[in-house]
Parts: sequence; C-alpha cells; structure tokens
Amino acid sequence: MDQSATQQNPIVRTEDVPVLPDMPEWASFTAAARQAELDADRLRILTAASLQVDMSAQPWSPQLSAAGIALLQARQFEQARAGLLEGATVNCTEHRAAWHTMLRKPAPIEEVAIERARLLDFVQRLDTERRYRNILHIGIGGSDWGVRLAVGAFGYTGVWREIRFVANIDGHAIEGGIAGLDPHQTLVVIASKSFTTAETLENARRAIEWIRGAGIANPMQQVVAVTARPRIALEFGVPKAQIFPFWDWVGGRFSLWSSVGVSAALAVGDEVVAGMLAGANAMDEHFRTAPIEQNVPVQLALAGIVNRSVLQYASLNLSVYDSRLFYLVPYLQQLEMESLGKSVNLAGQPVGVPTGPAVWGMPGTDAQHTFYQWLHQGTDGAPVDFIACRHADHNWPDHHQQLLAHCLAQREALLRGKSYEQVRAEMRGSNEDSSYSDWLARHKVYPGGRPSNLIVMQRLTPYSLGALLAMYEHKIFVQALVWGINPFDQWGVELGKSLTKQIRKDWQSMSVGEPPAVPHDASTQYWLEAFLPGSGNTV
Ligand code: F6P
Repeated sequence: MDQSATQQNPIVRTEDVPVLPDMPEWASFTAAARQAELDADRLRILTAASLQVDMSAQPWSPQLSAAGIALLQARQFEQARAGLLEGATVNCTEHRAAWHTMLRKPAPIEEVAIERARLLDFVQRLDTERRYRNILHIGIGGSDWGVRLAVGAFGYTGVWREIRFVANIDGHAIEGGIAGLDPHQTLVVIASKSFTTAETLENARRAIEWIRGAGIANPMQQVVAVTARPRIALEFGVPKAQIFPFWDWVGGRFSLWSSVGVSAALAVGDEVVAGMLAGANAMDEHFRTAPIEQNVPVQLALAGIVNRSVLQYASLNLSVYDSRLFYLVPYLQQLEMESLGKSVNLAGQPVGVPTGPAVWGMPGTDAQHTFYQWLHQGTDGAPVDFIACRHADHNWPDHHQQLLAHCLAQREALLRGKSYEQVRAEMRGSNEDSSYSDWLARHKVYPGGRPSNLIVMQRLTPYSLGALLAMYEHKIFVQALVWGINPFDQWGVELGKSLTKQIRKDWQSMSVGEPPAVPHDASTQYWLEAFLPGSGNTV
C-alpha cells in the first residue's frame, strides 16, 4: 500500500477517547433527542449518489441537528473521516488501515490498478474463450455475501454461466453445490482473505477431490484463489497466475470491492463490478464533501444513534422492497453487526451506552406476512429501513405499483398508527354490544410513532447498489466514531473458532480413551460424549 499515506496520518488516537456519557455534548444531544418530535407533517428528504433518502419519519428538530454537529465536532469527525479516506491506521486493535475506499477510486494507487487490470484480463479471456459453464464460489462471510448479492441483483433471470455458492461447513452445502455440475466445465473460486478459514479450506478440498475424481489429472488448473495471503494459496497448490491478491488493509466484510468480485464478474459481467465500484465511489465523494446537514451517511448515523442509544431500540429492521436484493439483509447484517457489536471503547473502557443494534429483515412483501405483526403491535418495535426502487425492470407495471403501495402503506402505518378512538369510531354502527366492542377495539390499536427511513433507488443498477452499500459503510463508521468504538475489528468471532479446534482435539483424545484436555461445562461434556465420532452412543 501507499506507505506515505499511512505515515502522514497518525494512528487514530485511543487513550484520549472520552467515555460518551461523560461528554457534555452527549448530554445535550440526548436532551434534544428526547424533545424532538416525530412530526408526520414534516418532509425531510436527502439525496446522495442517485439515492433519495427520506428521513421524514425520524425524530428531528433544529436543536437536535445542532447538538449532532457539536457531538461530531467533539469526536473530531473531520479528522477521523480524513483518516479513513486517506488510509490512516484507523483499525487500531489490528494496526491496519481500512482503506476499502481506495479500491473504488477511478484512479487508484498503482498496485490496485495493476490487480484490477489483471483480473479484467482474466475475466475477458475466459469470456472470449467461452470457458467454464459453471463457477463454484467457495468462501464465507465477507468472502461470500457480496458476491451472492451482486449475482442475485443482476443475474436473477439466469446467467449463461451457472454460479453456485458454498460457504457452510455442513456437508450438505458442498453436496448441493456440486450436484449436477460437470466437473470438466467448472471453475472453483476460493475466496478467503486469510486463507485459513476452516470452512472454506475444507470445502475447497472436497471440490478439488471432486474434480480429480472425474479423471482430471491436474485439478488445480481449474482453481482460482482470491486472498490477502497469496503465499498460503500458493502452498495450497493454486497456480500463481490464478491467484488474485488483495491487501491486509481491506477488511473481510469490505472485500466485495477487491478481487473477490471475480466470481461476480464471471457470472454477471465485469461491467456490473465496474458500475458498483463507480456508485460506491460517488457515495465516498458525497461522504467526503457534503455538509453535515446534507450528508446522508452522517444523518443516518445520528438518527441510528438516537434510536439505539437514546430511545433504546435494540434492533434495526431492513424491509427490502425488491426481491432481487434478498442477500442485502445478510450482507448488511455482517457489515453492521461485526462492525458495531462492541461494548468496549477505543480506550478499553465500557462504552456506557447501548451500541450496534441487532439487524434483521427480509424482502417485502414476504416480510409483511412474517414479522410485521410484531413491528406494528409488539411491545418493543424496531426502526425500519425501507428500501425500494422507483422503477422496476420487469414488464408488469401493476406488480410494481402494488409493491410500492405496500411499502408506503407499511411505513405510514408504523408512523401514524391507529388510536383506540379511531378503531371505536370504525365500529360504530355494528351490532356488537359495547363491552365486547371495547374489548375487541383494544386488540386493534396500533401505537404508531415508530421511526423509519425510506431509501429509494431510481432503478436497481450496479451504480445504485454500489452507492447503497457505501452509504451503509459510512453510516456505520460515523456511529462507531460517536460511540468511541473500533468498527474494523471482530475479536468476538475468535473464541468460538478456538473452542471448535479444542473440541475436535478432545474428540481425538476421547476416541483413544483419554479425557478431554480441558474441562468443559456439564452440558458440553454430555454432548461431547454423545457426539463422539464412531462411539455409537445414542442420546
Ligand atoms: O467471521 C469472521 C470473518 O473473519 C469475517 O470477518 C470474514 O468475512 C470471514 O470470517 C471470512 O474470512 P476469510 O475471508 O479470511 O476466509
């Protein structure tokens, strides 16, 4: 990477980060947030990189806006943003930059440009030769969701190369992944930043065995690796010319923007990947230059902080009114929850307020028939991000009008609700006796007052999808800044990984009659014995 850029920008300070509840700016912000109205008559729509973001259904007031600016200033927002965009070591616990924005620049640093050109050449060569009817993309988390999302969004009617995804270690995943494919016509893409992820390497071994089993003498000729550890991929046996490296300064959940996009380029076209990069870059520029009051990621971040840390909503719902974006939900779940699922601030102290919400969702209208009862009448409720496209790409305009009507209706119902008096008034004239009507009316009340955003793309294009993803990235960055946490590490995934290794070792010891090397809790011990491979134990 461009070392000079990192050196010019110091490591983002850690020990001088005040705990949020101790800051006077936080006290003013929370006071203003509690006073701010959810005003059904106010229209507040922001625009960025072709997206319209309607934040009318969020608590807002001029005082809250001013308090948000003061809070950001106290957290040195401009300096932090410059550090992010210029490749400073913002990921302090892993001593790295988080420079995914560099991957999206029209004129990136030399090493990025070289790899981009190499990848394009590879894809164009295979396309010209019409080689490989099938792509078997093996990767998990950030090495998987983004490619699934791009293929789902732009290949939903089918693509000439069939692409299958294998992520889970569950043998059914690889079994289903290769079922019916011709191994002679299959390119295996192993995507792993670390090239040590157990699930990915195990699935890759099965795929290679499957190719070899078809009588292909050198199966590695059909294998591509995308990784930040090219040396390990080489040791694994992948030919050097088929290794596409990226850099340590690209976090796993941002790796869609790197060579991980090779599978998407092969499946739905390199122009899709280029369009997504351009849209994300346009959002980066908006984030860099737009004034705070009009800066979409910043405003979304502040609204999210009000909802989570002041109003105490524990989750964020994503209702995506475009079934092509099915994988947007898991993609954003990883982005939000791996980034913001932290309780310790940069100084190593408890954050002091609730941080990242649980993120969940589904495409609408399926969502309405699944969990909307809870959203409308449950005790907790959740803010909702509604995501929709103004224009569809199919030939049934009435379907699209109906889809949009559902989206607007749900949003309005959450905002305005329905009072007891309204319900009772509707019942007037029915023959029901009044005590029964009183009782029934209570079940039909909608509290309303539930916050939401409506994010509108003119059309689902690579550009608009790229902009949308970058918008969420920057929102998350700003939220982390205010909370004082590092959004770029993920230490919370390590304990489970090491216990998995331990359990597998324990099974080895137990299979030769020795006890586990470490004590386990009673229940785990019980199941270790019950699941002991080859023990024949029945539960
Ligand atoms: O779940 C932890 C994680 O490290 C994610 O951050 C990452 O996207 C995923 O595992 C896969 O990692 P890798 O690309 O190194 O195989």
